[in-house]
Amino acid sequence: MRFIGNKEKLVEWIYDELKFTNLKGGLFFDFFSGTTNVGKHFKKKGYQIISSDLLYTSYVLQKAYIENNEEPKFSGILKDIEEPLNLFPSSELEMVLNYLDGLEPKKGFIYENYTPEGTVHLDAPRMFFTSENGKKIDAIRIQINEWFKDNLISEQEYFILIACLIETVPFYANISGVYAAFHKKWDPRAIKPLKLRPIEIISNDKKNLVFNTNSIELIKNFDYDIIYLDPPYNSRQYAPNYHLLETISKYDSPEIRGVAGLRDYSKQKSTFCVKSKALEELEYIVSQANFKYLVLSYNCEGIMKTDDILNVLKKYGELSFKEYKYLRYKSNNNGDSNKKKFINEQLFILKKLVS
Ligand SMILES: C[S@@+](CC[C@H](N)C(=O)[O-])C[C@H]1O[C@@H](n2cnc3c(N)ncnc32)[C@H](O)[C@@H]1O
Repeated sequence: MRFIGNKEKLVEWIYDELKFTNLKGGLFFDFFSGTTNVGKHFKKKGYQIISSDLLYTSYVLQKAYIENNEEPKFSGILKDIEEPLNLFPSSELEMVLNYLDGLEPKKGFIYENYTPEGTVHLDAPRMFFTSENGKKIDAIRIQINEWFKDNLISEQEYFILIACLIETVPFYANISGVYAAFHKKWDPRAIKPLKLRPIEIISNDKKNLVFNTNSIELIKNFDYDIIYLDPPYNSRQYAPNYHLLETISKYDSPEIRGVAGLRDYSKQKSTFCVKSKALEELEYIVSQANFKYLVLSYNCEGIMKTDDILNVLKKYGELSFKEYKYLRYKSNNNGDSNKKKFINEQLFILKKLVS
């Protein structure tokens, strides 16, 4: 998924850098879970995962990828779903997605607020989705809620279906990476009819726990083998940048404002986006949490300076520091793309002193 700071392409490197610990499995805390890509990787490698994020969108993905260990069977609804003859689904999940794709489009909250037809009364009608795709998203989201309300799908099936929608929507959104603004002309990808994508189901047969909270609240709850920290690097808060995914995930018809139709995010602000507070927060986590290894991903342009981070972490144990040249995320280029294509991704690995 397109997400600022997504570690999909770096997670293998991170995993390899941790091989020296000789930990084979154990309790892994994905403290800033985001897309869940890091948690997913360590889950596949046999770790038991605890994960959390301030974003509800991330919580949906965590429920589907991290907590869930089973292929959904959809036994409560499949008997009533007739498969179109020309489709050959390879799983029950694909059968249900095919059914959802074929629903009659409906005018709901997404159509009314984020498509040009629905917002024709505004000075700048919103062009996040075509009117047709907006109505498809509404029809799908309404159907998932109805199935869940009528007890026809389980909680895990409910989150798996919303996760499929969340993983699909970015391919049809008329934006350049984040939802703080929309293009004034249609991106060719946005005008294609939306088709749901199945998510990968991952099992490790362990009791993985997921949360939608400030992760600081969880630092003392468990004895972690590894705590993985991947905080925001700059002052841009995540919630306003992904507000539309939050609203599709919750489907709660929030009050919205401004050109982009933002929802309230006052309870989702991260102190890691505040230059004067980030380092203090990091030190609080390191000093208070129970762990064997703490791993921090950061980059050379972050609001915490490398030397300051090193000085804080080394007080608490044996520290190693690695760098990896990485192609800059496109939406962070700020027009500078020809000058600086690469940034240094950093990995701080701390082995806690046993007192
Ligand atoms: C750099 S992203 C993490 C990316 C993630 N590792 C991935 O691969 O997708 C930072 C994430 O931290 C979350 N966040 C920031 N402060 C938080 C906090 N105090 N507790 C929980 N989540 C937080 C943001 O919502 C965002 O999803």
